[in-house]
Amino acid sequence: MKITVCHTETEFFEATAQRIAAQIQATPRALIGLSTGRTTGGIHAALAAIHQQSPLPTAQLSVFGVDEITNISREYPGSCYYMLLHEVIQPLGIPLENYLMPETRAPDFAAECVRFQAALAARGPVALQVLGLGENGHLGFNQPGTPFGSTTWVSRMDEQLDARIRRETGSCPEDDLGGLTLGIKNIMHSERIILAANGKRKASTVKDMIHGPVTESFPASVLQLHPCCEVILDKEAAALL
Ligand code: GLP
Repeated sequence: MKITVCHTETEFFEATAQRIAAQIQATPRALIGLSTGRTTGGIHAALAAIHQQSPLPTAQLSVFGVDEITNISREYPGSCYYMLLHEVIQPLGIPLENYLMPETRAPDFAAECVRFQAALAARGPVALQVLGLGENGHLGFNQPGTPFGSTTWVSRMDEQLDARIRRETGSCPEDDLGGLTLGIKNIMHSERIILAANGKRKASTVKDMIHGPVTESFPASVLQLHPCCEVILDKEAAALL
């Protein structure tokens, strides 16, 4: 693992965005995986600013999100589809047909996982996968205990996120909210991975990810085994290293 520590949060967003921009410049027809959340939201804003200043070659780029919430509308601003559409796809002018996401609603989610994984495989390999870090060490929606051999599947949501989404969307209790996510095995097949984490609240998770044992009870620890993984941090997230 290569570890990069940025002095400020702004530098952290910019440095990570620069790496994505450099990947797009180097491989403009590549498949790139992104993630959603507060961390990557700041990175995407910096990436959009880079593109506005000096346009990136995005006409043949393919982009996907590592995960998605099930049984909500894609129009809900908290859906991964919506976030990436507004943060990256539209600002960078990526053609919609090159934007690959799982459906949020499907009659058969097992079949939807197979379809999504096949759509990625058809355009793969994944040249770069950008990941955020869950405070409990989750990657995508792969919660602690997920087997390292897992492939695209629907995981449970953590309780806080479940409650927040229900509050914001007015979902009925019968709606089964889940986290459709690439599995750990799929993530590890990416040619290159960037894990980005910032802020005090991630410091102890970052320490365990880098220095703790490699174990399925802490999914992010698997990244220690990836041959080309960079962890980009701000000072606060790196405080316990
Ligand atoms: C969610 C997403 C993950 C993301 C994580 C971190 O759980 N499913 O893909 O990495 O949040 O989010 P944040 O950056 O907001 O801390």
